[in-house]
Amino acid sequence: MIEIPLGLTYDDVLIVPRRSGVRSRRDVDTTGRLTRHINVKVPVVSANMDTVTEWRLAAAMAREGGIGIIHRFMTIDEEVAEVARVKRPEEYVLREVFTARPDQTLADASQLLERYNTGSLLVVDNDQKVLGILTTRDLLFEDDGTRRVADAMTPSTELVTAPVGTTIDEARRILHRRRLKKLPLVDPEGRLQGLITARNILRYASQPSAAIDARGRLLVGAAIGAVGDYMERAAALVNAGVDALVVDIAHGHSEHAIKATREVKSEFPDVDLIAGNVATAEGTQDLIDAGADAIKVGVGPGAACTTRLVAGVGVPQLTALMECSEVADRYDIPIVADGGIKYAGDITKAIAAGAATVMIGNLLAGTEESPGSTVTRGGGRYKVYRGMASTAAAVERQRLDQPEADLDELAASVVPEGVEAVVQYKGTLSDVLFQLVGGLRSGMSYCNARTLPELRQNARFVRMSEAGWREGMPRAAIEGA
Ligand code: XMP
Repeated sequence: MIEIPLGLTYDDVLIVPRRSGVRSRRDVDTTGRLTRHINVKVPVVSANMDTVTEWRLAAAMAREGGIGIIHRFMTIDEEVAEVARVKRPEEYVLREVFTARPDQTLADASQLLERYNTGSLLVVDNDQKVLGILTTRDLLFEDDGTRRVADAMTPSTELVTAPVGTTIDEARRILHRRRLKKLPLVDPEGRLQGLITARNILRYASQPSAAIDARGRLLVGAAIGAVGDYMERAAALVNAGVDALVVDIAHGHSEHAIKATREVKSEFPDVDLIAGNVATAEGTQDLIDAGADAIKVGVGPGAACTTRLVAGVGVPQLTALMECSEVADRYDIPIVADGGIKYAGDITKAIAAGAATVMIGNLLAGTEESPGSTVTRGGGRYKVYRGMASTAAAVERQRLDQPEADLDELAASVVPEGVEAVVQYKGTLSDVLFQLVGGLRSGMSYCNARTLPELRQNARFVRMSEAGWREGMPRAAIEGA
């Protein structure tokens, strides 16, 4: 008989503890590589599913140090709007700057300062060109309210400005060196484009682990398909400032997924591309050859997936991660372990098996920030979580194209590979992530690992029996019941 290899998943193994010099969970660094060029301090990615990631959850993920991937089951304009809401103009740059004209009287300026409740006005001409700054200090001992702003302001020759696109770190350095509180941003023609204040920089600094780009905007990814409008969608998302694109297709090792990966990468070489899903070494190799900057691994492990039951296809996730990462390592390409995370400990196992980050759907659905409202049943609060290949999701998608179609007929034409469910309302994302990352930190300390690469290097798996698994389950509640 031909020998059939054994595939293992998270519940089949444990990581063996080892001598450790890590004294506290706080002493570990959980920074993971999302893609070739993007690192995240929290190695968790929220799934591109319509009950998981839209702008609110994506923004919350990035504030916590992870990243969210906006799903693609909406029009291009809608997806662009979702990305734009996460990548709002740099929060540390004020766009609406209070201004005065040079020929206004000081009495007028004084009223403006009071009305805006601000300490300074930038003086601009009709073209928005910066001429100077007028502060409350300039008016302190001024008794002639009929004088003009131009006569009392600090002129632009003595004003420190910076170009548009100045990063938060550069602004901090300039403000510190010159002992200033405000830094106007100007375009090459000297026109006012924004203002950075010391107060906003300080507010920003209170979120030290947030995932932000060089301009201080939150990081966000967005999904595209592999057929239809994917190039147009990719172009619009890149234009909106998306940080990473995800080629979202269940069978990432298909000819059209490889083709889409190649096309998107060659058209948009500067945006990192995550391609998948695959579960084999060959699939990983083909997507890397096509230009992927990260590989998403997982065929059928997801909480709402029925692919393995319906199609009979898949690879247990731990084995898939080990096989795929062996190839990806050769090219220094990170792996996203997508689906099947049921406990915090599974994140530790996924990373030990070769993943650099994990993508999570079910455990993040039901948070305050996930899409959809909560429903109350029998005293409990719930939210919907559904597979993107479930009947409901598939019918909703088809209705976008055929709004007149009969619902029952559409439903009958679907062969679903996912289910719909409700999950308990879980409170804020921040609390959920705190628990998940806390588990990972604990796992790292058991392995004498201060970084994720060290975790991978130090981790040694042991396989366990059903009895071993049962032994790890809490029994106290059952015995006491
Ligand atoms: P978890 O376990 O975190 O997994 O909820 C999330 C991942 O599940 C995948 N996904 C699906 N897989 N049919 C499938 O076979 C589906 O309908 C489906 N919907 C989502 C997807 O990879 C997601 O990130």
